[in-house]
Amino acid sequence: MNTIQPTLKPFKWNSTSKPTKIMKIMNQNDPTKLQSSSSTAGKIKRLVLTKEGRTKFNITPDRDFYAYPRFVTHVDNNFIDTLTSVYRNRLSPNFEVLDLMSSWVSHLPKEVKYKKVVGHGLNAQELAKNPRLDYFVVKDLNQDQNFEFDNASFDAVLCTVSVQYLQEPEKVFAEVFRLLRPGGVFIVSFSNRMFYEKAIGAWREGTGFGRVQLVVQYFQCVEGFTEPEVVRKLGDATKEDRSPLGVVKGFLGLLSGSDPFYAVIAYKNFKPIYE
Ligand SMILES: C[S@@+](CC[C@H](N)C(=O)[O-])C[C@H]1O[C@@H](n2cnc3c(N)ncnc32)[C@H](O)[C@@H]1O
Repeated sequence: MNTIQPTLKPFKWNSTSKPTKIMKIMNQNDPTKLQSSSSTAGKIKRLVLTKEGRTKFNITPDRDFYAYPRFVTHVDNNFIDTLTSVYRNRLSPNFEVLDLMSSWVSHLPKEVKYKKVVGHGLNAQELAKNPRLDYFVVKDLNQDQNFEFDNASFDAVLCTVSVQYLQEPEKVFAEVFRLLRPGGVFIVSFSNRMFYEKAIGAWREGTGFGRVQLVVQYFQCVEGFTEPEVVRKLGDATKEDRSPLGVVKGFLGLLSGSDPFYAVIAYKNFKPIYE
């Protein structure tokens, strides 16, 4: 007997904002799609975060914070170029891809057509504008970490500049493990920018190195991921603004070079045949 209840209300568009892509929203309330996913999620070996580490300054529901679309880019072009080349190297055109915590922009290489790209996020208007998505789904991962996709549905799962907002990262990483096909890859990338009030305590107070270690531990706490790889590209001081205004900002200590790039990457291990 299926006990999982759909938690999402269907998104309601007003008549002026209705995009054509609304037809493609996956139906989270279709009972035939529901399955007891938690029993097959990856096994969590230990919790990484303390109760305090999960807290946010802004405790209003995340869906309220993202109720209005933000059509902005959250990182600079150097970061995006590095991320796109990681995707170019790691993802094949025949892949089915899930872009977790996505928005109106995609960092996938423009020249590559993937078999399927599914987006997930909190704002339907942002997701409807994302040109790379074939489908999208809206879900608050701090309320419910289970997706209604079948086991082993995706070859790659991506999470860009958003992992700092997860209050139950262990459960989300375990769910990603369930969604990946054997050999599938999970690429988690981030920089030093964040909505401070919405980032969890363990992230807010950390250094770049500490945040990498945190994400490494999120992978390691789920049984069956390969040892995480870390890709780092630190801010390039040569990209600093040399204009008169830039020089003044430099004197004031406001220059930081380009956004540092960090990615933590691991694969769903193939099951040993002797098991
Ligand atoms: C900084 S934006 C990054 C968007 C996109 N990945 C990008 O690279 O531009 C953070 C994203 O995290 C998503 N997000 C934040 N809190 C969330 C939550 N509790 N559940 C699901 N998604 C969330 C929001 O929808 C938002 O689009």
